[in-house]
Amino acid sequence: MLTDEMRHNLVKAAKKARNMAYAPYSKYKVGAALLAASGQIITGCNIENASFGGTICAERTAVVKAVSEGIIDFVAIVVLTRNGGFPCGLCRQFMNEFAPSLIIITADTKGTIRNELPLNEILPHGFGPKELHAPS
Ligand code: THU
Repeated sequence: MLTDEMRHNLVKAAKKARNMAYAPYSKYKVGAALLAASGQIITGCNIENASFGGTICAERTAVVKAVSEGIIDFVAIVVLTRNGGFPCGLCRQFMNEFAPSLIIITADTKGTIRNELPLNEILPHGFGPKELHAPS
């Protein structure tokens, strides 16, 4: 269960992570704070590239950091932007790999939570590991 204290801590961590965003092209800075089942918080920011397709979103930065450290069980993620934007489709797919019912919380720079809902509601019928393991 996600407590208000945990929500607050995640928003705070996402805000701090957003300050590290490298977004000279879009100027759209994003911070993410991922809550692992262990209680650890792993943060990420978007990192753009002059070759635009090389850009990585904040959510994927956080997941990549976690998985590369052996953390693969996740409970929730706060995505913090100037306007409370939702995760992009690619990040939805990426997060679905590890946590189809991950709680997605969007927040703005005032720290206000705009939305809170499970990943499978914003990625219905997601394609994931189960498809590759199911019998034909
Ligand atoms: N971005 C994210 O970091 N996460 C998302 O879910 C949506 C988009 C970043 C990528 C790019 O640096 C900027 O926001 C504008 O698309």
